[in-house]
Amino acid sequence: MRYLLLIFALAVVVVMVVGGRRGDLSRRPPIELFADMDRQPKLRPQAPNDFFGDGRSSRLGVAGTVARGDHYQDLPINTGHMPGVTNVVESIPAEIKVDEALMNRGQQRFNINCSPCHGAQGDGNGITKRIGAMGVVADLHDPRIVKMTDGELFGIITNGKGLMGAYGPNVPVEDRWAIVAYLRALQLSRLGTLDDVPAPFRAQLKK
Ligand code: HEC
Repeated sequence: MRYLLLIFALAVVVVMVVGGRRGDLSRRPPIELFADMDRQPKLRPQAPNDFFGDGRSSRLGVAGTVARGDHYQDLPINTGHMPGVTNVVESIPAEIKVDEALMNRGQQRFNINCSPCHGAQGDGNGITKRIGAMGVVADLHDPRIVKMTDGELFGIITNGKGLMGAYGPNVPVEDRWAIVAYLRALQLSRLGTLDDVPAPFRAQLKK
């Protein structure tokens, strides 16, 4: 016990001697344990430097560089909702031409980005569900989702929802609308009635 107290007193003295000097002014440079943190071989911004031909340390952006956010405007085509408000747009904006090429692109992008979870048919039976990596994956033929506006679907792809991650950062705007268009076709494929088939072809259908 006596020794313990002695050791404790010594420890206190050591701590006070070492730590208590903090804040003292000294002309001696501090001990550098990791000198590479203090001294880095780096170029300071805006400082002259003769490594590059034009003598600047800061390099200019590559020709044609677009600043992050520059291309983004608060327009329905970019956001899926009306400018300045959260009201989602009813259908795919007119700037996007829904034609065969867009549908093919949408099918390809859907199969790449969405089918792993939602399945190629969109019914929620993708590979992640089958191997048990995802518990509940939405069935995109659910009437609640079929009733969503195109803008709402675009928003879900862009920002994600619940357990689903955001695809905005990886899937460009036009591809997101292409996916919406293709998703609509998938939904329609299960909702169609005989009336949707042009009359001359009805007889060819198996009842
Ligand atoms: C990694 C798996 C995964 C991928 C990939 C994925 N989703 Fe989802 N998605 C989910 C899950 C899980 C839910 C259910 C989210 C919840 O309710 O928490 C969901 C829900 C949805 C919903 C319904 C949201 C709601 O309000 O119930 C839509 C629409 C949807 N996804 C569309 C897509 C589209 C389109 C893509 C491709 C761009 C996609 N998802 C890619 C997992 C995924």
